[in-house]
Amino acid sequence: MTKQYQAYPLLPHNTFGIEAVAAEFVEFSSVDDVVAFFAKGYNGRSLVIGGGSNLLFVNDFNGTVFHSSIKGMDIVDENDDELFLRVGSGVNWDELVAYTVENGWGGLENLSAIPGEVGASAVQNVGAYGVEAGDLIVKVETVRINDGACQVFLHDDCQYAYRHSIFKTTEKGKHIITYVTYRLSKKPLFKLTYGNLAEKVEQLGGVTLENIRKAVCEIREAKLPNPDKVGSAGSFFMNPIVPASVANALLLEYPSMPNYPLVCGDVKLSAGWLIEQCGWKDTPHEHVGVYRHQALVVINRGGATGKEVLDFASAVVASVKEKFGVELNMEVNVIE
Ligand code: EPU
Repeated sequence: MTKQYQAYPLLPHNTFGIEAVAAEFVEFSSVDDVVAFFAKGYNGRSLVIGGGSNLLFVNDFNGTVFHSSIKGMDIVDENDDELFLRVGSGVNWDELVAYTVENGWGGLENLSAIPGEVGASAVQNVGAYGVEAGDLIVKVETVRINDGACQVFLHDDCQYAYRHSIFKTTEKGKHIITYVTYRLSKKPLFKLTYGNLAEKVEQLGGVTLENIRKAVCEIREAKLPNPDKVGSAGSFFMNPIVPASVANALLLEYPSMPNYPLVCGDVKLSAGWLIEQCGWKDTPHEHVGVYRHQALVVINRGGATGKEVLDFASAVVASVKEKFGVELNMEVNVIE
């Protein structure tokens, strides 16, 4: 069934807790709904949202917001080692992770407790603790907005990279994602190299999918604000990737700067560290700030407007540029 609303409040649909109104809101619960809606062609102003955990509304949205609430988690193929799970784009991300862990299927456990929905995970390529969703995605099914055509993007078509996919570049805003298929492992290879994850898992009684999930949930709870209590969109910025020459020059001046050399030769820096060094954890501001345990996360202290958040973020970017000469890019999708 397709549900359609006018003058629709977006407050429950953005984890930043920004008050904004969409001129129209349309919600689909099946692929047939989506195809039927777009088959006649559509070219109005539109925005497709998932769980609204990576969005910043700066104004009311003068167009139509589309949301898929397509559900379902079905095994579509399996062999001795792997299984392929086709999941509706409207499934809550952490419900999916919990379900895979309960069933003993490995792959997504490091991505526990990330807010949002399955469809958005395929756009954002959400990542944490050494795993990215794109690593496990084999197929993304969509319906094209301008003509209602069903399309399939296989893993390589999606062009996954750090917080990047084709759905953020050439295919941006052109599709309603309906299903995502993940490749999961029946004989999991655990990834425990990130930070103190291995140590935490050991404390919990050893390496199992359940203990990894538990450890990740505990680490996230300690470092990141609870979206039910504090408005934020998780990481507001991406970690900047710079040439090795730039990283080496900075390391001469700041030997303790976290840095992660990449296979391509470039170096990923920590936006949270750069922001903290600019003093933002100690800068009081009435409505907006950075989270005290993780400066990468911009928070709504209560009653912030989207414009206030954006102005604050611009000041953060300018300060990092001035102190370190490094350009921060926003991870959050700013809707003007
Ligand atoms: N750090 C600081 N100060 C801070 C924040 C971080 O000094 O305020 C330092 C830490 O001590 C550490 C380094 O920076 O040495 C990296 O910090 P952390 O391990 O917390 O990870 P991150 O690189 O800041 C990324 C993701 C997170 C994800 C974590 C864990 C991005 C943009 N963010 O953060 O993703 O949970 O790694 O894998 O890549 C999200 O996208 O919403 C998100 C939370």
